Amino acid sequence: MEKPAAIITAKNLTKEYGTLKAVNDVNFDIQPGTCFGFLGPNGAGKTTVMRMIYCVTPLTSGLLTVNSENVMENMSAVKRGIGVVTQDDSLDYDLNVINNLLVYARYYDLTREQAVRRANELIEFFQLEEKRDKNVRTLSGGMKRRLQIARALINKPSILILDEPSTGLDPQARHHVWAKCHELIEQGVTLLLTTHYMDEAEQLCDRIAVMDQGKIIKEASPWDLIKSEVSPYVVEIRGEEQARQKILTAVSDQIDFHEELSDRLLLYTPDATPLHAHIQDMNIPVKTLLSRRSSLEDVFLKLTGRELID
Ligand SMILES: Nc1ncnc2c1ncn2[C@@H]1O[C@H](COP(=O)(O)OP(=O)(O)O)[C@@H](O)[C@H]1O
Ligand SMILES: [Mg+2]
Repeated sequence: MEKPAAIITAKNLTKEYGTLKAVNDVNFDIQPGTCFGFLGPNGAGKTTVMRMIYCVTPLTSGLLTVNSENVMENMSAVKRGIGVVTQDDSLDYDLNVINNLLVYARYYDLTREQAVRRANELIEFFQLEEKRDKNVRTLSGGMKRRLQIARALINKPSILILDEPSTGLDPQARHHVWAKCHELIEQGVTLLLTTHYMDEAEQLCDRIAVMDQGKIIKEASPWDLIKSEVSPYVVEIRGEEQARQKILTAVSDQIDFHEELSDRLLLYTPDATPLHAHIQDMNIPVKTLLSRRSSLEDVFLKLTGRELID
């Protein structure tokens, strides 16, 4: 089957701030109707990539097309097709929920009637009916984020950009936001998100570009990233440096590879059960010994030698 045309394409995309290459020669293609995530620590360049896509930061060099339009040549067409939820809360605190949507709708070519209908649909979709006429101040963090997403969708854009959608939300609110994201993908919206949470990337993304220091260091599906970069399981040991060293020496022929962090030793293995049992039998005192499945966090660590969140 032929691959559908990409909805967003970046070729040698670069953004320099003075001598800093915030985005350094990155390439990617995003397929319509998928969720594409940029995963990386603070300062990796994720927001800068988003800002170039929605035309608020000009490129230094490279080529970026959105819906077949060059972002440097046809900004208004590009902007019309994109809804944006920025990292910071940009709601209007003088207004109630519905008016936040209606005021925003004025930026677009909607009649008052269309705007009201669309706003009500979105309020229902994001389960904000009870707050429809209430001031934004009365909303919980999760409701505010849902309202920001609703607002970004007022013009029915084909692309929705979410910059750190669940940062600052409690677990329940994050899951609610994720559920709505899944529904939007099912409706055919192309989702672009940035995150430094590997579980968010794993939950939502069809493909992930792992970013670090302005570069995309790997791009694949979450599953392929884990399968290709790390072993299926990790045995984690917290404890004294000396104890960790002793264990590492004893099991070095039973592991695929290891990572040493300031407080932990990570042993990567195809099967955690026998390794875990062997370490227990050694009776070396450690603070904790636990086994778990490998995650994108492990992928990031393997690729960069650093943790995603420090
Ligand atoms: N307007 C700006 N002027 C100068 N440097 C900037 C500007 N915006 C971002 N940067 C720098 O570019 C790098 C990437 O930033 P950003 O794209 O915000 O990263 P992320 O979203 O991954 O945390 C950082 O080092 C940041 O300090
Ligand atoms: Mg950012």
